[in-house]
Amino acid sequence: MLKTVLITGGAGFIGSHVVREFVLKYPQYQIINLDALTYAGNLENLKDIQDSPNYTFIKADITDAVHIRTIFEQYKPDGVIHLAAESHVDRSISNPLEFVMTNVIGTVNLLNAAKEIWETNYEGKRFHHISTDEVYGTLGESGLFTEDTSYDPHSPYSASKASSDHFVRAYYDTYELPIVLTNCSNNYGPNHFPEKLIPLCIHNIIHKKPLPIYGDGKYTRDWLYVIDHAKAIDLVFHKGKVGDSYNVGGFNEWKNIDLVKELCKQMDEKLGRQSGESAQLITFVKDRPGHDLRYAIDATKINKELGYVPSVTFEEGLSKTIDWFLENEDWLNNVTSGDYQSYYKKQYRDS
Ligand code: NAD
Ligand code: TYD
Repeated sequence: MLKTVLITGGAGFIGSHVVREFVLKYPQYQIINLDALTYAGNLENLKDIQDSPNYTFIKADITDAVHIRTIFEQYKPDGVIHLAAESHVDRSISNPLEFVMTNVIGTVNLLNAAKEIWETNYEGKRFHHISTDEVYGTLGESGLFTEDTSYDPHSPYSASKASSDHFVRAYYDTYELPIVLTNCSNNYGPNHFPEKLIPLCIHNIIHKKPLPIYGDGKYTRDWLYVIDHAKAIDLVFHKGKVGDSYNVGGFNEWKNIDLVKELCKQMDEKLGRQSGESAQLITFVKDRPGHDLRYAIDATKINKELGYVPSVTFEEGLSKTIDWFLENEDWLNNVTSGDYQSYYKKQYRDS
């Protein structure tokens, strides 16, 4: 069956990998990438597939309900994969309302547009909402987040994502809109915007700048290679049970300080620097307010029900990621010029 799949946020980090996966794997689908091109959106991420006959880009803001409805009426998507969001916790602390607008209001606009064009004929239709493990709040030293863990968000970012998840489920319960949700752990990989820990440290190691570690560095995150996330989205979009959520992760926890030391070790080798040279750049800085201690995903459900297994170990994924950044210094230079400099100064000025 010929399908039109509308992907929101497709010019961003994860979205661009999802768009590429779908454009290349499903030539019979029409893939529409809807993105507002905020500071985080970059069409350079999709240069290799931009001329594919089954790919269309539309610049649009999901907070603009009228424009979104017009686009849905024109393209009549059978499937929606919704990634567009404000995604950085530190920015949410400085500007929470922007996160409410895009992550909550924007999501409800998309749900309304899908509900209106699909009316009650939901055959072959699907709304896949992409969310995060951060909605579950924080873990102590032990335990894992399962799909049944209660929501307990702490940052304005995670509160806005939790709210959007609730709306998505409410549209299933109230209108039977055919939804699926995925809650994924921290991603890393090519095209990652250098405001997040791993690409920021890669950029700073290249330029021999301090590597800012919040607090004592014992905070723990669970990392998944971005292409493995894109493959999980493909699987759940096509085979997930309507109304269900799936946690996505690779059982791969790292304390921030250990992760940055591993990064320094690999980069010293690749850059031909002395062993231990980059680790000297590690600098402990003021902690993030409301900093969640530990995230860790129990990915048993997606593994048992859909056979999902990540393709790379963390060490392999990190090595591929560093290689990509070293081979794409122009990309890194382009995104770190202009506005990035003022963001960086403001965020790290007391460090
Ligand atoms: P990103 O910040 O790299 O990209 C977000 C994209 O959304 C950008 O292309 C941006 O232009 C677009 N966008 C922002 N506001 C918009 C608006 N109002 N209208 C239309 N487009 C808009 O984010 P990412 O890291 O790729 O995350 C994508 C999704 O995955 C988000 O929903 C995020 O919550 C979720 N997620 C991210 C991670 C992670 O580690 N990065 C982990 C789990 C879940
Ligand atoms: P980040 O990449 O911002 O992802 P998230 O907050 O969504 O988990 O941060 C990952 C971890 O790294 C988190 O514990 C905060 C920490 N961190 C630093 O220690 N220094 C930094 O400069 C940044 C950006 C993050």
